[in-house]
Amino acid sequence: MKKILVTGGAGFLGSHLCERLIANGDDVLCVDNFYTGSKKNIEHLISNPYFELMRHDITFPLYVEVNQIYNLACPASPVHYQFDPVQTTKTNVHGAINMLGLAKRIKARVLQASTSEVYGDPEMHPQREEYWGKVNPIGIRSCYDEGKRCAETLFFDYHRQHQLEIKVARIFNTYGPRMHPNDGRVVSNFIVQALQGQDITIYGKGEQTRSFCYVDDLIDGLIKLMNSQAEVTGPINIGNPVEMNMLQLAENVLRLTGSKSKLIFKPLPQDDPAQRRPDITLAGEKLGWKPKTNLEDGLAATVAYFRKALSA
Ligand SMILES: NC(=O)c1ccc[n+]([C@@H]2O[C@H](COP(=O)([O-])OP(=O)(O)OC[C@H]3O[C@@H](n4cnc5c(N)ncnc54)[C@H](O)[C@@H]3O)[C@@H](O)[C@H]2O)c1
Repeated sequence: MKKILVTGGAGFLGSHLCERLIANGDDVLCVDNFYTGSKKNIEHLISNPYFELMRHDITFPLYVEVNQIYNLACPASPVHYQFDPVQTTKTNVHGAINMLGLAKRIKARVLQASTSEVYGDPEMHPQREEYWGKVNPIGIRSCYDEGKRCAETLFFDYHRQHQLEIKVARIFNTYGPRMHPNDGRVVSNFIVQALQGQDITIYGKGEQTRSFCYVDDLIDGLIKLMNSQAEVTGPINIGNPVEMNMLQLAENVLRLTGSKSKLIFKPLPQDDPAQRRPDITLAGEKLGWKPKTNLEDGLAATVAYFRKALSA
């Protein structure tokens, strides 16, 4: 049995990861400061003897004994990470330093939840791992984008300088049950608006494209990466390459919810990327991973979750 630390374990992705690791027979220590996460996401795990919860902010050092560390702590949606941008940078940079320092002390393997945002508004499409990105260093998204880029730098410097076993996953848009209902991410936004009969907000003309990965597939990818051969450090894109524009997504949500909501159009936010799609060749080659859940099934499960959550 491995003892595994999951930072940000009470968040959307972290709670699914904790759940899966416990189901695999591991012993999980979930660390979270509840900035965007919630006890509700993990309440079904609290009484499990293989689950332990610690309230802690990873911008401060942590002393625990574990075999593996998944570093997921960081607010992920623009609404949340722009609320206190200095704290966002601190979580990304000081948090990474603290987790890398811990991994070095206890000789643990450490995985970083990086992001497709490191590619910024990409000139290369789809995005491959060797692309260096086009990121604004002083914009309102920079606390997140540059924070995550600096965290990647720290991971690779610890690897080169201290021979740490690192894994860097570049996560693309992921959706599923336990997303925050009001954090402005497009899938949850559209579903909540549709279920509540509100207008569906489309930014720009709705022609910008995204690709969406169902949470179960993403968690498979993270666990495969963590347990891959030591020389597989990443960065590795983990996401679903099926691309669609926002009008197509809205049509799917309206159909699956049976909603009569209307579409309304608002100006595009600053630095909003026009296109985003992962090239997942490397994940296929190194991890034997590819997403399995189609949008129809993933959206149906997410709609069912929000129907229940909104009526509770
Ligand atoms: N969901 C996605 O589509 C997506 C895409 C790319 C990258 N990611 C990355 O995956 C990770 C998890 O994302 P998510 O969607 O689950 O977001 P989330 O906001 O639901 O979860 C983040 C968790 O981290 C916790 N946290 C934040 N700051 C902390 C701190 N200083 N100390 C301890 N805990 C802290 C929050 O309370 C929350 O529980 C993040 O690092 C995010 O950048 C997510």
